[in-house]
Amino acid sequence: MGFSLHRLQNIGAEVRDLDLRGPLSDDLARDLYSAWLDHGVLLFREAGTSKDIHLRLSRVFGELEEHPIKSLLVEDEKELIALGEKKGAPVLFDDQLWGGFIFFHQDTSYTPNICKGSMLRMLRKPERGGDTIWTDTAKAYAALPPSLKERIADLSAIYCFRSGAVERRYGWSEHAVREAPAGHVSEVQIPDFPLVSHPMVARHPESGIGSLLISPLNFVHVEGMEKSRGDALYEEIVRHALRPEFAYHHKWSVNDLVLWDNRRTMHCALGYPYEQTRIVHRTTLHGPMQTGHYYRANVSEQSEKA
Ligand SMILES: [Fe+2]
Repeated sequence: MGFSLHRLQNIGAEVRDLDLRGPLSDDLARDLYSAWLDHGVLLFREAGTSKDIHLRLSRVFGELEEHPIKSLLVEDEKELIALGEKKGAPVLFDDQLWGGFIFFHQDTSYTPNICKGSMLRMLRKPERGGDTIWTDTAKAYAALPPSLKERIADLSAIYCFRSGAVERRYGWSEHAVREAPAGHVSEVQIPDFPLVSHPMVARHPESGIGSLLISPLNFVHVEGMEKSRGDALYEEIVRHALRPEFAYHHKWSVNDLVLWDNRRTMHCALGYPYEQTRIVHRTTLHGPMQTGHYYRANVSEQSEKA
């Protein structure tokens, strides 16, 4: 094998001793792909020294797709988005104005089919903050009490696109996060995304392993349940999934590349002081998990629950 693997904490592995100067052989690509399926998150420490390496390594894991938020696309690149070049709306994080905070989510869960995975490359890190946490939603599902597994087996939840502070943070009490005072607007243009519905449990299309399909940043309500009961159930599931033993907390170095399997993880960008800058590039792997569908609530239900 043309690389060595070193386990990260709780989920993921670091890939070392990999030569990224030229094209990778088919055997090497196959071994990397299988390591990714096994570990869910792969870290290539300080290996992303160019856009070409980022794109070439991403393509080992599948075809790349154009992100649905076109305003984030890197100029002349259909397969790369930049996060942090345009400032999003800040939040108040422990009473400080904080940028780039994105609560736990699975990428593109506001569309009917969540994407296969993504790879981030750190271009410019802030002096403080900017960390990312990944959580293993397959391990979290396996560790659920059987009674809870049964309760959510046939349930689906409704999701919308959302950025900024999230009112319900599901027992995540480490930090106080609130809406920033009025007057701060996002520079990122976001199209309208209709509500979608996803099952709360899904089988991984390649490994067949069961996993929680949850994206609390985007959550609206549990389909077909009275709102307070559904919210309480969702909270119980998310609180369980956010237990520290399922999580890997990454402190970035410039040029780090991190790849994750979006079908068995969720992640949270912890943000950084708003006046500072953090720029990452991201590729998105095509090959969606076809779990969801557009949700057509009647008007009164939508206004009551959204
Ligand atoms: Fe994300």
